[in-house]
Amino acid sequence: MLPYDALEALARERLPQAVYDYFAGGSGEESTLADNSAAWARLRLRPRVLRDVSSVDTSTELLGTPLRAPVLVAPTAFHSLAHPEAELATARGTREAGSLLVLSSRASRRIETVASHAGPWWFQVYVFRDRGLTRSLVQRATAAGARALVLTADTPYVGRKRRNRGDCSLLLPDEDLLANLEGLTHRSLAEQAPDVTFADIDRLRQDSGLPVLVKGVLRADDARECLHHGAAGLIVSNHGGRQLDGALATADALPEVVEASEGRVPVLVDGGVRSGRDVLRALALGARAVLLGRPILWGLATDGADGVRQVLNFLREDTSHALALAGLPRLSDVGPDLLAPRRP
Ligand code: FNR
Repeated sequence: MLPYDALEALARERLPQAVYDYFAGGSGEESTLADNSAAWARLRLRPRVLRDVSSVDTSTELLGTPLRAPVLVAPTAFHSLAHPEAELATARGTREAGSLLVLSSRASRRIETVASHAGPWWFQVYVFRDRGLTRSLVQRATAAGARALVLTADTPYVGRKRRNRGDCSLLLPDEDLLANLEGLTHRSLAEQAPDVTFADIDRLRQDSGLPVLVKGVLRADDARECLHHGAAGLIVSNHGGRQLDGALATADALPEVVEASEGRVPVLVDGGVRSGRDVLRALALGARAVLLGRPILWGLATDGADGVRQVLNFLREDTSHALALAGLPRLSDVGPDLLAPRRP
């Protein structure tokens, strides 16, 4: 498996420039995008020595689903831009790696078709202005076997991207853009509901009977409010630096969200996680698992389902290697003591 940078470079060669820019880019000055990776690197590790690490176990469980590693596939839009097999390849690669797919509301293949290729999967929900359209998407996902819903809470409007000013929807044929959104009347992505609130968590729970995780939480007060409305999990995320630029890095937001959740629900995190060391850092700050966004798109673009599987397997092996070097044979051995106190 190629190191992450080489994989991205290879994907970049294969993709049209506009598609690469859409995947890689962030909003505004891309300051949050840059800080996501930098913030993980700022956390220094305190490895233990002379522990028997001849066998290291990365397996875990999340809301009843066993996972080979604490690594999930983040929801990202329009996989047909990366590969002709689109989300079907992503679903297969994810299943083969023993991971879990979070399928985007903006997938470029029909929910039911993706589900038939997938192992365990959750459905990511954007609340649209037309609440009926949202409800019908949720019903379809529930019927197709989604085990949970992920309400993306940080997108009342779509962030303005610096690199591709235009609308990435222009790159897609209608049948891919609207694979699950037949109800949208035009090609614009601007049909998000800006009036989405915490009450939508209750509504999604009642409509589906599924656990609802909230993605995009960066503050303790919001975390508490989500729990008050019955959230089954929280995902600390700034949308990979694609929404409010200047928002803090997820590694910096994670501790307060973990503290506010008081161990009542699992807290996950995404944004700039690129190595097994980053996975350890996230777990040491109290996350139960991480999600990968762009690396999955680079794997998909370079080698379809095989590429997705290899990215996930690489991160699992790298996590195992990092655990061994840190003197921690099990994931449950990772705690806050793994991190050095922050330098002023
Ligand atoms: C995203 N993300 C995203 N999130 C979401 O909830 N629904 C979506 O449809 C999308 N679409 C999307 C497209 C692209 C091209 C990117 C890069 C990201 C955000 C995604 O789920 C995740 O939060 C970040 O990608 C995580 O950061 P990294 O791993 O990409 O740094």
